[in-house]
Amino acid sequence: MSPMLQDKVAIITGAGRGIGRAYALRFAREGAKVVIAEVLLENAQKVAREIEAAGGTAIALQTDVSQETSTNEMAKKTVERFGKIDILVNNAAIYYGLPRKPWHTWTVEEWDRIFAVNVRGVWLCCKAVAPYMQQQKKGKIVNIASGTASGTPGATQRLHYATSKGAVITMTRLLARAMGEHNICVNCIAPGATMTEASLAGLDAGGSASLKSSTAQARCIKREEVPEDLVGAAVFLSSEDSDFVTGQILPVDGGSWLR
Ligand SMILES: NC(=O)c1ccc[n+]([C@@H]2O[C@H](COP(=O)([O-])OP(=O)(O)OC[C@H]3O[C@@H](n4cnc5c(N)ncnc54)[C@H](O)[C@@H]3O)[C@@H](O)[C@H]2O)c1
Repeated sequence: MSPMLQDKVAIITGAGRGIGRAYALRFAREGAKVVIAEVLLENAQKVAREIEAAGGTAIALQTDVSQETSTNEMAKKTVERFGKIDILVNNAAIYYGLPRKPWHTWTVEEWDRIFAVNVRGVWLCCKAVAPYMQQQKKGKIVNIASGTASGTPGATQRLHYATSKGAVITMTRLLARAMGEHNICVNCIAPGATMTEASLAGLDAGGSASLKSSTAQARCIKREEVPEDLVGAAVFLSSEDSDFVTGQILPVDGGSWLR
């Protein structure tokens, strides 16, 4: 089978660890040149080295998605290095170790910090790559939301995070409308609770075991979700196989939430 993303140039934000890292490794195996746009430079460099060691092509760019100068620089440096931008995966978010607290106890500062990265960051990255995609009259944007935006039990305890992911879903639909005339597809993946360092951080051993078993039991497919469960959907939505799919939200969660 031929690689699905041969010679495509893909920016993946927040790909220094967790699910973003899994996207980056797989995109490189599918023939893409990968830009790891990550606020933690050392992590980004580590993933880029992993890709290079396996025979792929990748660069690490220190990027803070919440800052417009940084996202513009991300797009500019990508084009300087690889000549174009075909794919943007908006994976970066503040999620690591978010505690669970009653919804009214979060502070304004905590609320704003989540929205600056998880919502403004997605918008700024789209804004930065759009001129390049429009110029080539083609592009793929894959946003990452979350099952929490559908009102999963427990999401009230991270109200700001779940609401930010709801905004990502709305932005996906509206940007699909706005960019369709340029042949740019904008879609979204909504992962279920996935076993990453970030989702387990902050939970003690007991909490972690109970989260794992309760989420697995609520699914049609009764097992834990791992980062590799998400990569097939991301590759499909970034490939030419999905050229007539836009504005869609694809839950990848083993059937946790059936509508
Ligand atoms: N793990 C889950 O259970 C789960 C479930 C649903 C959705 N998601 C979403 O999937 C994505 C990845 O989740 P993960 O579990 O791998 O989390 P993670 O925290 O390991 O990954 C997020 C990455 O984004 C980076 N980042 C944070 N702020 C940034 C900024 N301002 N600029 C650039 N990079 C920044 C982090 O350094 C990290 O590498 C996130 O969007 C998350 O909300 C995760």
